[in-house]
Amino acid sequence: MLKSWGAGMTRILQFVLWLVLSAMAVAAQAQAPGQGETTQEAVNKVPNGLALTPPMGWNSWNKFACSVNEQIVRQTAQAIANSGMRDAGYRYVVIDDCWHGPRDANGFITADAQRFPSGIRALADYVHSLGLKFGIYSDAGRLTCGSRPGSQGHEYQDALTYARWGVDYLKYDWCFTGDRNAQEAYALMADALRASGRDIVFSMCEWGTAKPWLWAKNTGNSWRTTGDIWDGFATKDKEHSWAHSVLEIVDLNEPLWPFAGPGHWNDADMLEVGNGGMTPAEYRAHFSLWAMMASPLMAGNDVAHMDETTRSILLNTDVIAVDQDPLGVQGHRAWKEGDREVWVKPLAGGGRAVLLLNRGDKPANIAATAEQLSYPARVRLNVRDLWAHKRLRRWSGRLEATVEPHGVAMFRVGI
Ligand code: GLA
Repeated sequence: MLKSWGAGMTRILQFVLWLVLSAMAVAAQAQAPGQGETTQEAVNKVPNGLALTPPMGWNSWNKFACSVNEQIVRQTAQAIANSGMRDAGYRYVVIDDCWHGPRDANGFITADAQRFPSGIRALADYVHSLGLKFGIYSDAGRLTCGSRPGSQGHEYQDALTYARWGVDYLKYDWCFTGDRNAQEAYALMADALRASGRDIVFSMCEWGTAKPWLWAKNTGNSWRTTGDIWDGFATKDKEHSWAHSVLEIVDLNEPLWPFAGPGHWNDADMLEVGNGGMTPAEYRAHFSLWAMMASPLMAGNDVAHMDETTRSILLNTDVIAVDQDPLGVQGHRAWKEGDREVWVKPLAGGGRAVLLLNRGDKPANIAATAEQLSYPARVRLNVRDLWAHKRLRRWSGRLEATVEPHGVAMFRVGI
């Protein structure tokens, strides 16, 4: 009797224990990473919710390289606010390489005291006071490309420093990284930025070496897809194999269109518009193609001293609207024959941006058809010319234009 009472008790206790353990297992499963995922990967799946349209702003590198200083950044920020660029969407004022001084005794990064005597915090405050956002540059390696201190081994410390300074955007380069794994290095800095508690757009600059479009969707807000841009339309920079003309970048970046979307963009590199190496037609084509590819639009010229032609290109709000379209689909080439191309970018609301590109040296007649735009043949559409800034006659089944050499015609079509 006593024996069977004892066995009954044991069974009840076993059942209770089983209940408790099962509940604990369910709770643990709810928190655990998904199957086959490390905790690191699970953490990286939390998007930062930034850059739902491609980031726009200015970056010091293409014009000023390592001669950047606080005076230049202040003047440029002022000009962005006064020229209408801020109101057209150019928000992030980014200092590229060479702002750094040494690390202090505790390993915290400092600014170059000669070039930035007021310090980065004061500069960020000034930029913010103009209604703009502030960005900075570092590198996943031991040194930056300009041989200043890199962030390797100091990721959390640097992210914290940037947050304290009021940084809103980090461009993170890939020089002096040795045999470092890109996926790990960028995930580490993404984590550090998240842990800093400040919203910081993460602009990866890894040049496409490890194909970041395949793995960085939840790590960075954009990733460079090529080596550096060169201020030329089709000519090669013979001295630097890593430098690419506009057309070279276009050909490398275009096939990657399926990988772009809100919060994670293919970055075709900063703009050269206004830097003097191309004709106005070529700069219009460069700007239009970057908008069709939903690339970040980071002006790279001397904004405080730009001429009217440069201003009219950078401030073409019709073209900017194509880049910034909330649907967030990167455009692609729909047709090509020799030097003539038709490009299409689907827009929110069922419209399309259409670009006719003439890569050749002579004027060319180019036509886009309903089929190329994936519209039924008989659809009735409205057409707006985005460089002439006017409405055209209604769509008649084709969109045709004579396009200047190294130039584009660009339209918005919709119902
Ligand atoms: C690399 C980057 C450039 C620029 C320089 C700075 O080349 O790709 O965009 O940041 O470094 O040294």
